[in-house]
Amino acid sequence: MKRIQRIGILTAGGDSPGLNAAIRAVGKTAVGQYGWELIGFRDGFLGMIEDHWVDLDKRGLVGMLTLGGTVLGTSRDKPHRMPSEDGGTKDMTGAIVKTYRRHKLDALVCIGGGGTHKNAARLVEKGLNIVSLPKTIDNDVALTDDTIGFDTALGIATEVLDRLHSTAHSHHRIIIAEIMGHRAGWLALGAGIAGGADVILVPEIAYDVKKVAAAIRRRSEHGSNFSIVSVAEGAMPKSDALQLEKLLKQRDKARTDEERKKTKQALAAWDKARAGHTMRLASQLEELTHLEARVTILGYVQRGGTPSCHDRLLATRLGTAAVEFIRAGKFGQMVATRGDELVGVPISKVAKNIKTVPADHGWIAAARRVGTSLGD
Ligand code: F6P
Repeated sequence: MKRIQRIGILTAGGDSPGLNAAIRAVGKTAVGQYGWELIGFRDGFLGMIEDHWVDLDKRGLVGMLTLGGTVLGTSRDKPHRMPSEDGGTKDMTGAIVKTYRRHKLDALVCIGGGGTHKNAARLVEKGLNIVSLPKTIDNDVALTDDTIGFDTALGIATEVLDRLHSTAHSHHRIIIAEIMGHRAGWLALGAGIAGGADVILVPEIAYDVKKVAAAIRRRSEHGSNFSIVSVAEGAMPKSDALQLEKLLKQRDKARTDEERKKTKQALAAWDKARAGHTMRLASQLEELTHLEARVTILGYVQRGGTPSCHDRLLATRLGTAAVEFIRAGKFGQMVATRGDELVGVPISKVAKNIKTVPADHGWIAAARRVGTSLGD
């Protein structure tokens, strides 16, 4: 097996707490223990396209464990679809391969979520030695139990729900907290349970606003004239879910470029029409319950700041394991958590899937058992 001398690392997709802890863990093991060189590429895959990098030597790895964000910067760029001068797109995957070869890299560590794994899978196909780590506050990366950043975001969202309780109670209001998570409900569900939300709405369970209102009215009848609703940004009423299902079926059936373009446009229009859906939910609930409703959108607060102990520990376990994967020549793999174990899973499989909340998941059962309405 070839002796490892130099490796690269990048962070891509939305930032999340614990990224720096992961970079540090890779660096301390690769540079500190094995004497390899480590190059950090700036702003995700863009740094590899533009050959924009920084040397991560021992001095460059200090003070990172508790730092939020990513010292390398990040972007959501897709190398195979970069903007071109004529307003279209061009495939820059070749530029990445060249940068990898120019730096004589023996491996590249890619830290990211779903989009990053799609990009990484293309690089694996081009023959690059890639090891990846799962990171996203959404916890929706396939084939891993956990992702770097989820626990911190869960803690922040839970604290927000705790704080919203006292003001909702004092003003006899419905307070709807919109929580991130893209198309998955892990954050809204987890924080909703931990923060004692009365209603939790997730993308995986289409809701009926009348049932949500009925749950809130029942609470009022029993003397609790306020309610906390934890709503995932991707949650939707049944009517939206039906429309989406239809559009997705059309997309899957599309055979020609024209058909594919049309269904893509229809899906984008559907997405656009949903802007402000949490505000609409608030006014519908006001009408149906005669209680005042307010919306708090947690937004980027959930992604910022110091990582939790859990995320520091997870990032350190995953980052150090990534280096051991490289030493062992286990390429094309993501280091995943499975219970207490760390296992390797093919990046190609991760790229093709997304981990949403299964209908029979224990968190759903627990929420129902404590009397939380899931709007269905
Ligand atoms: O994937 C993490 C995430 O924070 C999602 O929860 C959210 O939908 C999205 O990123 C926001 O993306 P952006 O940072 O591009 O606005």
